[in-house]
Amino acid sequence: MDKILLWSLLLTFSGSQASRSLAQRHTEFAVDLYQAICSSHKNNIIFSPLGTTLVLGMVQLGAKGKAQQQIRQTLKFQDTSTGEEFSVLKSFFSATSEKKQEFTFNLASALYLQEGFTVKEQYLHGNKKFFQSALKLVNFQDAKACAETISTWVESKTNGKIKDMFSEEEFGPLTRLVLVNAIYFKGDWKQKFRKEDTQLMNFTKKDGTAVKIPMMKALLRTKYGYFSESSMNYQVLELPYKGDEFSLIIILPAEEINVEEMEKLITAHQIFKWFSEMREEEVEISLPRFKVEQKLDFKEALYSLNITEIFSGGCDLSGITDSAEVYVSQVMQQVFFEINEDGSEAAASTGIHIPAIMSLTPNQFIANHPFLFIMKNNPTESILFMGRVTNPDIQKMNGRDLDSL
Ligand SMILES: *[C@@H]1O[C@H](CO)[C@@H](O)[C@H](O)[C@H]1NC(C)=O
Ligand SMILES: *[C@@H]1O[C@H](CO)[C@@H](O)[C@H](O)[C@H]1NC(C)=O
Repeated sequence: MDKILLWSLLLTFSGSQASRSLAQRHTEFAVDLYQAICSSHKNNIIFSPLGTTLVLGMVQLGAKGKAQQQIRQTLKFQDTSTGEEFSVLKSFFSATSEKKQEFTFNLASALYLQEGFTVKEQYLHGNKKFFQSALKLVNFQDAKACAETISTWVESKTNGKIKDMFSEEEFGPLTRLVLVNAIYFKGDWKQKFRKEDTQLMNFTKKDGTAVKIPMMKALLRTKYGYFSESSMNYQVLELPYKGDEFSLIIILPAEEINVEEMEKLITAHQIFKWFSEMREEEVEISLPRFKVEQKLDFKEALYSLNITEIFSGGCDLSGITDSAEVYVSQVMQQVFFEINEDGSEAAASTGIHIPAIMSLTPNQFIANHPFLFIMKNNPTESILFMGRVTNPDIQKMNGRDLDSL
């Protein structure tokens, strides 16, 4: 009896160690990508590390030589076997499709290739097997029709939430292969905020000026931690979504600390430390209601992370097609993410009303200045979204225009 128990404990332990190390690699890449994007964006940021891993995985599957090596190295998959590295993605997709009624998760991902190239049958099979996604042929020479075709496809895959992702200026006669990834997520909080408690409050931006924004408020029992690193103090709060599949983690530096200084400290190790050290506590929360939509071309960020080969003529994508003329022109991602009191119309609160006697001094978490966030899938510990809110008042951002806002 004892032996069996010990054996099963050992199995559980080694099993979780193995999957954790893959999750760790995914997180390391997420952090690298975040740092690369930060360096060229000053304001709000949102992107999906998981989505980027997915489209890079699709390319890697058909890449050989240096093109493949660079992707595997940047994704930290040097020493894993083909297929194994994407097991986190696979379990993520099967888990999210089973539990879909708990939340809305729409993902559109595809490789768009110039018509006229012959795609290998084996590649199409592999792509479907690992990534449940498509390779489509279009004629980039007809830029207008092409922009419409891809945008319409994205719109239909995201239930109309992501419209007009491409315009004709984005394609031309030299466009060969475009990686497209669009993601929309909407879920209800496990513990909702009451709409009647939301108040207009000042949010102090990085430059010290204030904007008035709707601030949601609640006193909740949830995971919380107060951390101090290299003389920087910050708080971390976890808000689970209904069903506990996903959680939003908010990282709020102390008021006097610049969010850009703070984000330099972030590592995958640090993120896992927060996850394991946060404890359930009563927290008085003030969190802005906001909606962010962002479209990013990852080419520059990936270049800085040493993924260069796939963007140059003569790269080896012979797993996809035999032509040497195919290379990646763009890696486009658009994300739509919204935070409000409940995520739906229902106004009923499930927040715990803690009697005053139990909460003499609750922790206060007041996100009235720039903060970072991570949205993670709990069973796989993979990061669906990651970003920074420097001004919750900006609704729509488009790639590099962001800096001029
Ligand atoms: C909010 O910001 C405005 C403009 O900076 C300022 O005049 C006002 O006093 C602030 N309100 C509060 C409650 O701090
Ligand atoms: C990219 O490659 C260069 C040269 O091989 C190396 O010094 C650098 O550390 C690499 N950068 C990343 C982010 O891996």
